[in-house]
Amino acid sequence: MTDRIKVLIVDDIPETRDHLSKLLGFEADVEVVGAAPGGPEAIQMAASVKPDVVLMDINMPGMDGITATEKLAAEVPTASVIMMSVQGEADYLRRSMLAGAREFLVKPFSSDELTASIRQVWTREKDKQSRYAPIVAAAETGHAGSGEPAMVAAVFSPKGGVGRTTISVNVAVAAAQAGKKVCLVDASFQFGDVGVLLNLNPRNKSIADLASELQQGENYDSLDGFLVTHSTGVRVLLAPPTPEQAELVNGAAVKRVLEMLRNEFELVIVDCPSSFNEPTLAVLDEADMILTLLTLEITSVKNMRLFLEVCEQLGYGPDKIRLVLNRADSTLGIRVADVEHSIGRKVDHTIVSDGRSVVYALNRGVPFFVSNREAQVSQDIQRLAMAVTGPPPTPSSSKPTERASKAAAKNKSIFAWR
Ligand SMILES: Nc1ncnc2c1ncn2[C@@H]1O[C@H](COP(=O)(O)OP(=O)(O)OP(=O)(O)O)[C@@H](O)[C@H]1O
Ligand SMILES: [Mg+2]
Repeated sequence: MTDRIKVLIVDDIPETRDHLSKLLGFEADVEVVGAAPGGPEAIQMAASVKPDVVLMDINMPGMDGITATEKLAAEVPTASVIMMSVQGEADYLRRSMLAGAREFLVKPFSSDELTASIRQVWTREKDKQSRYAPIVAAAETGHAGSGEPAMVAAVFSPKGGVGRTTISVNVAVAAAQAGKKVCLVDASFQFGDVGVLLNLNPRNKSIADLASELQQGENYDSLDGFLVTHSTGVRVLLAPPTPEQAELVNGAAVKRVLEMLRNEFELVIVDCPSSFNEPTLAVLDEADMILTLLTLEITSVKNMRLFLEVCEQLGYGPDKIRLVLNRADSTLGIRVADVEHSIGRKVDHTIVSDGRSVVYALNRGVPFFVSNREAQVSQDIQRLAMAVTGPPPTPSSSKPTERASKAAAKNKSIFAWR
């Protein structure tokens, strides 16, 4: 087999290393390239054997798994870490993600769980590399290409209630009203609000129907039958009607759905939840751009700082993240300059606060971009939609990775706004 997944095992307990090696020895597509008893040995070994995946124990004497993962991310960035822990608490998960781990397995786990995680992490990484390769090539030769698939823009915030759904819906409508083919995906799978803001019948099909059919091996040339059409022309893939059905939608399904939508639309906007779970990570990975929302509140700023660190660990370039300050003119909070100072980067876009237009529109189920086109908040949305889809500036001194994502954005700049 040509393309075996090279795995390095890191655990201080010899029996665990042996057991994992034996388990993986049965897998034809996996090759154990080494087993290290601790963090320093793992880093040294990884530098020479260049593993695709590192199985890392979190609790080890001396250098723990989190520190080792951080160092590994700097020294062998092509290695994806799967963290293993007997504790499954959110704090462990969060710290692992911050350190750069791509998956988290709670011990004891079955051999099926282990191999599924290894394959999933590896496929995701390969996929990402193959997506970047042509972009880098295009950036280097200066040919942006044409007829590219849609831009996928995720609207995310590490804090709830900051206006993600409001902005997703109105940006989608602004783009559709400019005559573009737009799909809006409600990825708040448990408590999706897009259907409410657009006054759509919840009995329509949702992503839960689609995900379960895809899992049963169904193939579709078009997802048309699963989309609802809003009067503005925006096509909507609704969230499941009940929270339990959210379970049906995993990261793999999300990824597949977004790939399919890319080929059918010019712009795909994804309204994300604030939770950092596997399906959300799949959206963020798949997105070309993450519109990251914050407000002038200390909790919003604190979470944003953590999120930006996670983005760095996940390898998202600075151009992928756009900071959007919602309710930017709110006088009760902290100052914009303080926010920028605290998170160490400038806010890219601002949206004014306009409770009258926004809440009135929400309660009527008509987007304010339609009902109050002249309002400042609608003009801010228009400007944001233009920024999402228009050509970004290309400074002469970009680094290669920045150049690559700029070329990607340029490739996907499909809108001619008037
Ligand atoms: N620019 C704005 N001006 C005034 N009110 C706003 C603005 N943006 C959002 N809101 C209000 O803030 C509330 C939260 O907005 P929204 O539901 O869009 O946030 P969310 O981030 O999607 O929240 P959730 O965590 O529930 O998904 C709503 O009542 C909305 O009307
Ligand atoms: Mg929402």
